[in-house]
Amino acid sequence: MNLPKPLEPYRIKVVERIGRTTPAEREAVLRKAGFNPFNIPSAKVFIDLLTDSGTSAMSDAQWGAMMVGDESYAGARSFFRFDKAVRNVFGFKHVVPTHQGRAAERVLFEAAIKKGQSVLSNIHFDTTQANIEVRGAKAVNLVNEGAYDPDSLDPFKGNMDIAKLDEVLTRGGTAKIPLVMMTITNNSGGGQPVSLANMREVHAVCRRHGVPFFFDACRFAENAWFIKKREPGYARRPLLAIAREMFSLAEGATMSAKKDALVNIGGFITFNDDALAGRVKNILVIGEGFPTYGGLAGRDLEAVARGLEEVLDDAYLEHRTGQVAYLAGLLDAAGIPVFKPAGGHAVYLLADRFLPHIPRHEYPGWALSIALYREAGIRSVEIGGVMFGKMNPKTGREAYPKLELVRLAIPRRVYTASHLDFVADALISLYKKRDRVKGMRIVEQPKHLRHFSATLAEIP
Ligand code: F0G
Repeated sequence: MNLPKPLEPYRIKVVERIGRTTPAEREAVLRKAGFNPFNIPSAKVFIDLLTDSGTSAMSDAQWGAMMVGDESYAGARSFFRFDKAVRNVFGFKHVVPTHQGRAAERVLFEAAIKKGQSVLSNIHFDTTQANIEVRGAKAVNLVNEGAYDPDSLDPFKGNMDIAKLDEVLTRGGTAKIPLVMMTITNNSGGGQPVSLANMREVHAVCRRHGVPFFFDACRFAENAWFIKKREPGYARRPLLAIAREMFSLAEGATMSAKKDALVNIGGFITFNDDALAGRVKNILVIGEGFPTYGGLAGRDLEAVARGLEEVLDDAYLEHRTGQVAYLAGLLDAAGIPVFKPAGGHAVYLLADRFLPHIPRHEYPGWALSIALYREAGIRSVEIGGVMFGKMNPKTGREAYPKLELVRLAIPRRVYTASHLDFVADALISLYKKRDRVKGMRIVEQPKHLRHFSATLAEIP
């Protein structure tokens, strides 16, 4: 299939060797890893599509900025640069650094939510859900129904269902619902964007009910790019103006800088509310660090600041989303079931269609992810029954999420078009012998976020 290849808008200044493994080595690795891709040493992975988080290649300017990091405990120059760069894009009054996104979630939720309450989202990411649930609160997903249809070509499948949101807020009220949180792009629903029109509606409904509206903004730049390309009236708007318009509709945001700030570690919370700032900073000092570094080194703050300046670049985002669309296009052309349209940071395989002979309780997504590693040393992640399955104590049976996906997340500025061709070829070869892939069972699992550490076995 000859799709036009996405042309890299960068040249390579530093390289990292990656090595191939033999089938026998991979077999041994899988057994030792308890059939969990999170337990595979990276040295045994050829193309690592486990996550786009913290895996970006930093630019020469980011590495340069790291050299001038100010490592003072309090009031470091690097903090003020970080603060300015975040406020330039997000526009909120308070900027609180954290070591990564889930730390931002933990601190914010500790300050803002109580046991018995519910936090509403389009779809909560797994760490967000876990951070809500450990506080004895409920994570409620209110994405539009079409989001779960992998064949619908709706350009904004991350949108929230406004009628449902209004209904839940009317029923619950502010006592029950302290926060509405919108994930952009919607990672657990195929990396799909949310339109500005939908953000405006969420803003209006939240305002009417007096409930603060926050973004989980990890992939805000990719979302802004899709608005520019797909939403009428935005084709000529600069990306920075689109991002600012998005954030002008909210009270605040949590951010994993490991995604769209193009760094390997970092995060922040940013918002306007002064009373909340007092609570957040108190919690921060106990667990993360002093409010001018929040668990990061001065040099990390510099890299985030510079990354936020680089990410809202048309050439970068065109290539970035172009890589995802290219890989999805190669697979689709070969008849491999993929979630449509292609998202911002990853290609999502429809594992239940890829492996129709494996029932949901034998985790087809997990089985596919294992099979892909076995085939070619490519690491991916299941976003399906293992990640989101929940035991129903009444029936004693597990309930599964609507989608059974395997995510091929593309790290930023890391792989070239030839790497993507290699991934497509491996999947096409695997697809031809898919009936040989076996189902899985869980051998051991922890209580929260079980996919990170569970061990599994193949069902003979
Ligand atoms: N929110 C979303 C939407 C995410 O995708 C992630 C992380 C987080 C919050 C938490 O951020 O990792 O910095 O603590 N997602 C990664 C992924 C892990 O692979 O999708 P973090």
